[in-house]
Amino acid sequence: LRFDENDVKKLEEIRAKYPNNQACTLPFLHYAQDKFGYVSMDVIKLVAQTLNLPVAHVLSVATFYTMYNKKPVGKYHLQVCTNISCSLLGARRLVDKLQELLGIKPGETTEDGMFTLTEVECLGSCGTAPVIQVNDKYFENLDEKKVEELIESLRKGELDV
Ligand code: FES
Repeated sequence: LRFDENDVKKLEEIRAKYPNNQACTLPFLHYAQDKFGYVSMDVIKLVAQTLNLPVAHVLSVATFYTMYNKKPVGKYHLQVCTNISCSLLGARRLVDKLQELLGIKPGETTEDGMFTLTEVECLGSCGTAPVIQVNDKYFENLDEKKVEELIESLRKGELDV
């Protein structure tokens, strides 16, 4: 596991925007997740080594934030916010619907590797609750019918996420 020349160039550009190496932990982890698909222990060590920071620091950051996947995820990572605003507006029903549609529980990936279902903390979009983040894109003001349509569109490859 390593960063190639192109990665090093891009990481240097990111580094230049921040005051110190420690402040780069989040963006470097983000970059590494995009490249390797998820943040394994090897990825954490690589980021720590690249930034010349203790592994324990990078590990604690990666563990704290749910946006870093510690395990491989499916092509579509469905992250359902189950924090207070979303819960009050039916997030639980959305999770139930997704479980029914996909045949998996939160924390699991479908056998074909298409979908991973995760419950996450507030996505910062409470005004449009309930919200599901699929990869990098937000889907807002959802209900069970919209969730069904969302899965249908993702299965057909109609959505660019
Ligand atoms: Fe769901 Fe804030 S509570 S986005």
